[in-house]
Amino acid sequence: MLENKKIGFIGAGVMGKAIIGGLIESGFVKKESIFASEINQELANNVSNELGIDTSTDNKKIAEGSDILFICTKPFVMKDVLDEIKNNLTENTLVISIAAGVSSETIEDCINKPVPVIRTMPNTPVLVKEGMVALCRGKYVTDEHIELAKNLFEQTGKCIEVPEKLINTVTGISGSGPAFMYLIIDALADGGVKKGLPKKTAIELAAQTALGAAKMILETGKHPAILKDEVTTPGGTTIAGLMTMEEHGIRSALAKTVQNTAEKADELG
Ligand SMILES: NC(=O)c1ccc[n+]([C@@H]2O[C@H](COP(=O)([O-])OP(=O)(O)OC[C@H]3O[C@@H](n4cnc5c(N)ncnc54)[C@H](OP(=O)(O)O)[C@@H]3O)[C@@H](O)[C@H]2O)c1
Repeated sequence: MLENKKIGFIGAGVMGKAIIGGLIESGFVKKESIFASEINQELANNVSNELGIDTSTDNKKIAEGSDILFICTKPFVMKDVLDEIKNNLTENTLVISIAAGVSSETIEDCINKPVPVIRTMPNTPVLVKEGMVALCRGKYVTDEHIELAKNLFEQTGKCIEVPEKLINTVTGISGSGPAFMYLIIDALADGGVKKGLPKKTAIELAAQTALGAAKMILETGKHPAILKDEVTTPGGTTIAGLMTMEEHGIRSALAKTVQNTAEKADELG
């Protein structure tokens, strides 16, 4: 359990709420240690009712009272938010940004004093403890800051450190990835519906299969191509399906999806 640290969130939308929810669910952080600010009173009240935490519309107050400050607003409002709160940050505040495409250098320049900044790319499965978070260190960050951030995120899934030049590529795989996986699962389920399965059953089959396949890769450590070959009988059903996927270019479509997403994150920066 993390004691004696106040954790603030500026912006508690989809991703902010997923991180808060995941941390509370883990039991590693007490609800009473988490505070969030939102842009208007109605949103702040909704977040408070939904998550049972104290909320405010005063970003400065949240920044000032936090040992660890998550900034979870959209990238295009980051600069305004940082201008607003920079005088309320000290060298003892650990700032953790989740904004896609906004570099730690940009954040440090806006704050304009030696405040430690960790830039991260989380994903929404943090809410169900299966998140994938990548983080990179700003110039005032120590190993202890990284350990603290990793410790927090590991309560909600996996967390790795990457060099900042690769973080936009991470966005293309795991940051935006849940949406890609939802589309793939929905498409597989539609195939089942075409062949007469109820959609709910088809989604359950597809989602559990995606989960199982992912676990096979992570827990056996085997290359996905080896696992694929292991379930592909010569002349059987699976190779017929695989050939269809290859004919329709799914491999290059998915690789290009990651590339375009990463390039969009570069543009945002
Ligand atoms: N969603 C994802 O899967 C995902 C994954 C990885 C990273 N991210 C990153 O996470 C960040 C947040 O994304 P999101 O999807 O959670 O967006 P979101 O749902 O729009 O959440 C942002 C929240 O911040 C509020 N806000 C806007 N301006 C504010 C201000 N000046 N002060 C305080 N709160 C303010 C917004 O209110 P309004 O709605 O009224 O503007 C909204 O509730 C983005 O930078 C994104 O790049 C998202």
